Amino acid sequence: LSVGIVIVAAGRGERAGSPEEGPKQYRPIGGRAVIAHTLERFVTWPQASKIVVVIHRDDEKLLRSALEQVAGLPEIEIAFGGATRQQSVLAGLRQLEESGVTHVMIHDAVRPFFDHDLLDRVAAALAAGAPAVLPAMPVTDTLKRGDTNGLVVDTVPRTGLHAAQTPQSFRFADILAAHEKAEADGKTDFTDDAAIAEWCNLPVTLVIGSADNVKLTIKRDIAMADEKLNAGLL
Ligand code: C5P
Repeated sequence: LSVGIVIVAAGRGERAGSPEEGPKQYRPIGGRAVIAHTLERFVTWPQASKIVVVIHRDDEKLLRSALEQVAGLPEIEIAFGGATRQQSVLAGLRQLEESGVTHVMIHDAVRPFFDHDLLDRVAAALAAGAPAVLPAMPVTDTLKRGDTNGLVVDTVPRTGLHAAQTPQSFRFADILAAHEKAEADGKTDFTDDAAIAEWCNLPVTLVIGSADNVKLTIKRDIAMADEKLNAGLL
């Protein structure tokens, strides 16, 4: 297995609060940028062969200073992302095209709290031959469908339902082809890479994710992550 890593970090993070605070992947938690934590967990994982970080054109400086916060100042490649996550992923995959990796893990920069056990579980499923692997957590809340008036329409059975996480991981040639096909067909509304694999009829293997592996989405997520790190809880 030769595993490339694509970390997507080109989002503007509008949901995380006021725009002047900048994209959430560069906000400090526990004294370092979110993306510095994310990168460190990949660069210290022995199976990562090449790392591409996909950024917005305006964020090069922000990334450079975040890299200085990672022990050993890792060697990474930079690609520039697009208007959607899907476009950013494709830019990252194209950057890896000549690298000879057999597999790729695609990860959100704003999920800094995965551990090496999770990466090992995902890699083991790839090594066993799965073309696509999705870390996910079984849904534990009771789910309600609401209507536009704020009334409950029904209760959605949660049997078999999972909340998708990253790194979603794939045979490199398969996911590149799937992304290229989605782009060529003008399909731009995929919110994760497993959905593109499903659309191409690739079987997607579920592996258990991790409860800590949350996506830092809103301002409160950043504040809570900061507190937990400072308290030594993460
Ligand atoms: O917006 P969302 O929460 O889905 O973002 C998930 C990840 O995708 C983030 O790390 C974000 O930086 C990245 N992203 C991107 N390019 C975009 C939109 C989001 O790389 N155009």
